[in-house]
Amino acid sequence: MIKIKVPATSANIGPGFDCLGISLKLFNEIKVREIDKGLVIKGGEKKFRNKFNLIYTSMSKCFDIVGYKPKGIEIDLDTKIPISRGLGSSASCIVSGVMAANEISNSKLSKEDILNISTNIEGHPDNITPAIYGGLTVSILEKNKVYFNKIYIKKGLKFLAIVPDYKLSTKESRNVLPKNIKYSDGVFNIGRVSLLISSLVNGRFDLLKLACKDKLHQNYRGKLISNYEKIIDYCNKSETKGVYLSGAGPTIMVILNSKNNIFKNDIVRFLNNLNMKCLVKELEIDTKGAIVS
Ligand code: HSE
Repeated sequence: MIKIKVPATSANIGPGFDCLGISLKLFNEIKVREIDKGLVIKGGEKKFRNKFNLIYTSMSKCFDIVGYKPKGIEIDLDTKIPISRGLGSSASCIVSGVMAANEISNSKLSKEDILNISTNIEGHPDNITPAIYGGLTVSILEKNKVYFNKIYIKKGLKFLAIVPDYKLSTKESRNVLPKNIKYSDGVFNIGRVSLLISSLVNGRFDLLKLACKDKLHQNYRGKLISNYEKIIDYCNKSETKGVYLSGAGPTIMVILNSKNNIFKNDIVRFLNNLNMKCLVKELEIDTKGAIVS
């Protein structure tokens, strides 16, 4: 039996649209093995126990690439990452499927191969890279190949996810983005993303609130999220280090000093007053990425 554990990820981190992502300690775990015939999926939601399951379809694509035909597959799901909430649940399924196929077929694909195959399935690398390598990563696509770098950040931060009780698909959330942006908006983001990375690396956490601002996606997507501006405003006025829309949303991610034990209660009270049903969860940064055992 092969066990694969893949972390949740939070992409974009404000101005780093489609290139930055960070891995967080909330995991999907699967156990997988080749069986004599058919497909057996156990655990998880009933509607995902079929051949359209993203772990299984990703596994099948990888089997095709390496030229292996399994007799049958059994997958046991233990999924903790909320689906379609901007926390990298799709990336986690794709990575675990590709890694499972690699193990079952004994193909000895490198991590980089797994990164490229998974990104090809997902379309962009910003969740896939930290899901595989852990920590904060920057990734770009050049001629269908991913180039990435791990960014080692100063200790002292934790994240807090405000996860609404509704889904928002990446497709829907990308559909509201403009086809073209103003030159000044591009310049706005280049400055902030550079400030964000340098502040995380050298511990200037006081600059993160400013550095999380963005003009490429957050304001457009915010319109799809209930009370978006009120929540962002509240977080910016509180003792937080920064706040941004996680991935394609609807999760709003808050960056906190790791010793901050007050904010969670404050934001829960604030959300209750807005009559919003949300899961509010503090998350540590994961530095290991996906693990096969
Ligand atoms: N960078 C992607 C987006 C992440 O914001 O659409 C979601 O897959």
